[in-house]
Amino acid sequence: MTDLASLDYFSDATVAQDPYEYLACLRSRNPVTRDPHHGVMAVTGYQEANEIFRNPEAFSACVSIGGPFPPLPFVPAGDDISAQIEEHRHRFPIFEHMVTMDPPEHTRTRTLLSRLLTPKRLEENQDYMWQLADRQFDEIATAGHCEFLGDYAKPFATLVIADLLGVPEGDRDEFRTRLAGHTEPGSRVGALDHEPVGSNPLQWLEDTFGSYISERRATPSADILGVLAATTYPDGTLPALIDVVRPATFLFAAGQETVAKLLGSAVRVLAERPEYQRILREDRRLVAPFIEESLRIESPTKVDFRLTRRTTRVGDVDIPAGTVVMLCIGAANRDPRKFDDPDEFRLDRPNSREHIAFGRGIHTCAGAPLARTEGRVTLDRMLDRVEDIGIDDTVHGPGDDRHYSYEPTFLLRGLQQLHITYGRALR
Ligand code: HEM
Repeated sequence: MTDLASLDYFSDATVAQDPYEYLACLRSRNPVTRDPHHGVMAVTGYQEANEIFRNPEAFSACVSIGGPFPPLPFVPAGDDISAQIEEHRHRFPIFEHMVTMDPPEHTRTRTLLSRLLTPKRLEENQDYMWQLADRQFDEIATAGHCEFLGDYAKPFATLVIADLLGVPEGDRDEFRTRLAGHTEPGSRVGALDHEPVGSNPLQWLEDTFGSYISERRATPSADILGVLAATTYPDGTLPALIDVVRPATFLFAAGQETVAKLLGSAVRVLAERPEYQRILREDRRLVAPFIEESLRIESPTKVDFRLTRRTTRVGDVDIPAGTVVMLCIGAANRDPRKFDDPDEFRLDRPNSREHIAFGRGIHTCAGAPLARTEGRVTLDRMLDRVEDIGIDDTVHGPGDDRHYSYEPTFLLRGLQQLHITYGRALR
């Protein structure tokens, strides 16, 4: 029998398709354990992952997306490598985006972002979501079947962010075409897993937003882009153009694939378990806990990384400075010390919402409220617009022998395709 723990998490195809048994095996050895292939310290325990997320003084986010790829740009020396990190920071993948920053740069950028995501803006965006969901169900409801990720989830997630940032209506079709197309599966380099697809889409986004913002700096306007263009730091200074453009474009990278994956896993459960369609239709307040349990059981961001700045003890393990730590969010959310029968989807689980699918601490997902609303709006509208939602047996096989393919990436967890069938609901 293969020793599960000896498999290479980063390249093994079976682990990519079903990571949970492998991760549980690591946890049973120790919730903090070193992977023999890349030297990464895998953290599979809920408590331990929380502790690391909340300790940016000891764990830097500079490797948060790339993990061990590429290798560190220096040879760690001593019990505190803070100075080395600062010296080489610009050599880490996507160092210019907030997810890899540490304080004080992180604090500054995050403050700017929170000035963009005001409660008023989120509320208007929610109104748009309801209309958008309706428009998209108009497109697919009569056909009786669809490939849910490509036909609904990806365009939905893309257009929600486009609206949030005030992309002019006339340009949104281009965003949909360029950013919500077909995903290239199998990208192994971590950073690519978080990027939208297409030919260098992040550059295209930066160019497009760069011209939106610079036009509005030249000719002020009262629309959302005009407000973005005039946003200042708390001390009143105007950020450089690129410092506004980057957090804005990063929202597409962070919030598209992740949300599409959440919608896919939630709809899969709904389609596999018709009893939930009845329960949720009867009491729509249960849609929110349904989304939380979906986030817990199939966390779209499977793993996240930190670089140990200072030698630090977590659980009963000393983690030396210079060690890349892999926070296995998907495993922490199935830690039996925290969640009873963790591999079961339970709508009445009392602590589902304590999952760490959105991370914890200073980098906690800035789009979590948005993602939750996208999930809620989608399921709510779906229950209104279609009925008898089921899995398409002709593609995924019969109920007792289903086949699903997951994207073979080490960062994210999500179906490659989800074919469903349904009838049109009479309204
Ligand atoms: C279900 C959907 C989502 C999941 C599972 C998710 C997950 C995460 C996680 C785990 C982090 C923490 C990364 C770290 O600590 O290294 C994060 C950060 C972030 N997320 Fe999300 N995310 C989702 C949706 C979104 C959306 C919709 C947006 C915005 C439109 C967004 C924007 C961000 C940003 C800007 C950060 C960086 C925050 C920082 O570094 O301070 N995310 N997300």
